Amino acid sequence: MVAAAPSAITHPLRRPPGPKGHFLLGNLAAVSRDWLGFYSRCAKEYGDVVQLRYLHVPICLLMHPRDIEYVLVTNPGNFTKSADYRALARVLGNGLLTNEGKPWQRQRGLIQPAFRRENILSYAPLVTRAAGRMLASWTSGESRNVHEDMMGVTLQIVAQCLFGAEVTGVAERVGKAMQVVTDRFMADASQALLLPFDLPDFLAPARRRAISDLNKIINGIVGERRASNQPRGDLLDTLLQVRDSEGQSMSDTQLRDEVMTLFLAGHETTALALSWTCFLLAENPCIEAKLVEELRAVLSGREPTAEDLPLLRYTEMILKESMRLYPAVWGIGRRAVADCEIGGYRVTAGTNIFIFQSLTQRDPRFFSNPDTFDPERWREDPLRSGKIPRFAYFPFGGGPRVCVGAAFAMLEATLLLAMIQQRFHLDLVPGHPVQPHASVTLRPKHGIRVTVHRRASSA
Ligand code: HEM
Repeated sequence: MVAAAPSAITHPLRRPPGPKGHFLLGNLAAVSRDWLGFYSRCAKEYGDVVQLRYLHVPICLLMHPRDIEYVLVTNPGNFTKSADYRALARVLGNGLLTNEGKPWQRQRGLIQPAFRRENILSYAPLVTRAAGRMLASWTSGESRNVHEDMMGVTLQIVAQCLFGAEVTGVAERVGKAMQVVTDRFMADASQALLLPFDLPDFLAPARRRAISDLNKIINGIVGERRASNQPRGDLLDTLLQVRDSEGQSMSDTQLRDEVMTLFLAGHETTALALSWTCFLLAENPCIEAKLVEELRAVLSGREPTAEDLPLLRYTEMILKESMRLYPAVWGIGRRAVADCEIGGYRVTAGTNIFIFQSLTQRDPRFFSNPDTFDPERWREDPLRSGKIPRFAYFPFGGGPRVCVGAAFAMLEATLLLAMIQQRFHLDLVPGHPVQPHASVTLRPKHGIRVTVHRRASSA
């Protein structure tokens, strides 16, 4: 494989083009009306590298896979996370998602082995049990918000993977507090981008209370586990046991930050992948029928297991295509440490760089009929064959900071989708608006309301 060369320098001193904006506010007013719409218009009008300004803060948008690869993979040492990640750090502290430099490297080295494919397969029964419990509570003919269901089941799963069966009710308590924190995310992220300091906590009492609740819950569980000294074989045990090259274990604060990060990063994203997939399948009955056929052929009505995963090819293709159209993580941000050249333009140190799965993954230069839900495009691995450029599709990010939970997410989503579709057919409730909303993740603004019908074959 030939690595993409750093972008050729065709205009070494030229700044990227971009909309002019207000002399004081820059482009702030335009973007705050509709984030994604504004970025999409910028790409259409100004091309692959676009320069913006929010007040005094320089922003650069990158649309081309070549430039995305340059930032994430070829030259990641020149980029930290963008300033808006500070909003996440208020909740997650120095967990894997928000940490930087040597401390991040150390933590990644400690945590990554727990998420290798061979180590996560043992979680499959836990996933299918949780899916079974959820589906047992569905009544044929009733209308449900399937996104709420997906949030509930993925939260149960991540809580059980982290803490085992010992803590009942913890998922619900954490879920509520996380919702308070993430609901304010765009406001907090904008603040973090525009101000070099955090506003005092008393200005956001609900968030302060939510973070304090999360700390109490997680510190309580960690404290009890340390005191009991009894291993349970869950992720928390792994985090307690790991040692770095100098034999050091994680401090309690670091442990709290990593647990909080895995909770946040590890449930809503997978829930969204499933919610959007259920929506797309309800809109595309021919694709749904083909999926049901695969499930019949591979599973003959029984529950899926980890061993079935390689055989559920079409199920996986559907998930990949759904994550192309509705990427749970719709954008990634970085900040240039030193001046650099991207796409032939000069990008100065301190510029925040935004990259969008939600735009590049629908770019007609890389995907024919980009807005069509077509799982067939994933039949022959088009990324491996080079038919689609690397980083035209990157739902899990890329480079050293690629999602550590990607294999886990795919295992969980494949098993859950298989069980849902094996047992139920979902009809969209007519008239209920399904509208993507770019918040911390790409959420369905009003949820996704469906009527669930038990399939005759699973009765
Ligand atoms: C469909 C589901 C998921 C999607 C789409 C997703 C997407 C992403 C993306 C795009 C990043 C990179 C962010 C960046 O570069 O700034 C990321 C990082 C991360 N994800 Fe995921 N994720 C998913 C599921 C999970 C799960 C299940 C876990 C854990 C249980 C997880 C844990 C993390 C962590 C800890 C990071 C930070 C990694 C680092 O910087 O070293 N994610 N995820």
